[in-house]
Amino acid sequence: MPTTDQDMHRPRYHFTAPSGWINDPNGIGFYQGRYHVFYQYNPDAPRWDRIQWGHASSADLVQWRDEPIALVPSPGDDADGCFSGSFAVVDGQPTLYYTGYTLERQVQCVATSSDMLSWTKQPARTIRERPADVHLQDFRDPYVFQHGGWWYMVVGASADHARGQALLYRSADGVDWAYRHPLFTSPLPTLGVVWECPNFFQLGDKWVLTVSVWPNLGAHYFVGRFADERFIAESDGVLDSDSGAFAHLAMQAPDGRTLQWAWIKEQREQPLIDADGWSGALTVPRELSLDAQQRLQMRPAAALQALRGAPVPVAATGATRGELLHFTGRCLDIEATFTLHDHHKVALTVLAAPDGSEATRIEYWPDARRLTVVRARSSLSHQVSHQNVVGHLELDAGEPLHLRVLLDHSVLEVYANQRLCLTTRVYPTLAESVHASLSVEGHAEATLQAWGMGSIHLDRQTT
Ligand code: FRU
Repeated sequence: MPTTDQDMHRPRYHFTAPSGWINDPNGIGFYQGRYHVFYQYNPDAPRWDRIQWGHASSADLVQWRDEPIALVPSPGDDADGCFSGSFAVVDGQPTLYYTGYTLERQVQCVATSSDMLSWTKQPARTIRERPADVHLQDFRDPYVFQHGGWWYMVVGASADHARGQALLYRSADGVDWAYRHPLFTSPLPTLGVVWECPNFFQLGDKWVLTVSVWPNLGAHYFVGRFADERFIAESDGVLDSDSGAFAHLAMQAPDGRTLQWAWIKEQREQPLIDADGWSGALTVPRELSLDAQQRLQMRPAAALQALRGAPVPVAATGATRGELLHFTGRCLDIEATFTLHDHHKVALTVLAAPDGSEATRIEYWPDARRLTVVRARSSLSHQVSHQNVVGHLELDAGEPLHLRVLLDHSVLEVYANQRLCLTTRVYPTLAESVHASLSVEGHAEATLQAWGMGSIHLDRQTT
């Protein structure tokens, strides 16, 4: 197994588990001066199995410290896995709500702590009540919040294993819960069979519901109102096209900002994963807001700028068409702005070999209003995904294209004008695939800055 330093694909400023497998972020919160992120974890192998809750914390969203594992399956409600859930401070006590999984059924469980480090399961508080049309295995991922003097819990489910829905529970004290009704049921058959990891929060004067769509259809958001304990959607959109990121979960920071994380899965075959010994990463924390048209806006949390090192030297080629700028790196934060004067494509290429045999191209085509991560040549390996990742982006008249690209070894997050994010994975094989460039096919002006990025795991021992 390679050390982190030797591993060309292991991210440095995106959170990965100390070893083995990570999937959903869970129980995100802020408590006594620290941010806490729990996560679906299998420390024993880089594959999904007998899922536990890993835990890390940070004072500044920049440096993360590994904490003891919070939850491990035990005989009873969670015998086969401690599935996803959320964190709340209930009557002064840190509390985790999570799904207890056994091969037969799913129920909602509770664990409490006095120090955030050791957690005591509370089997007497397990919630089993569910509507008759929700199957035993379609009932998971409790998200708990307070509103209007009540505690509410939203649970991911399916109406008759046909349509995704989010169920609403209510409690006066965060301890005794009663089922109310569906908070919201999928308006469209194209939005999957089960909704996983529902997350429901206020953003400005609106409410946002995000859901992860099973099977494997990515993540979706709805913006609307919460009235009479029901959600009324007014607009909606795609969160991370092509399921590049999944299981989004947000929290409110002490200063009122809404921060969101999601799971970035591997897109390579298991033998490659086994050889490296780890699987999956989390997105950077994203700050969310709504624009005037109620579109969800997202950008990397400002705190990440603390990880920027010196600016990377950027060389101008002197050309006015084709490749304009050139730089290198595989652990970068890149900001590029294009002012487009015609309908020709503009592009940023990263992780390119000098002979072009490997290259990943981030391309905007104004005519098609399409941003694409072109992965056809992103790797010489046939054991990794080469599918393009595509998102719709319509620029307003005269609006420049602004790309913020977080490249972290095999992780690529592309934010465009704060309203589209393409998250994906790329696995170049050649040590010299570190070349990056900015190019334009027609008449466009461009500016670019890039910084090398530091590690978020300074304290972690690497083997
Ligand atoms: C989403 C999910 C959740 C579940 C967890 C299990 O990725 O399937 O619905 O709780 O992962 O690890």
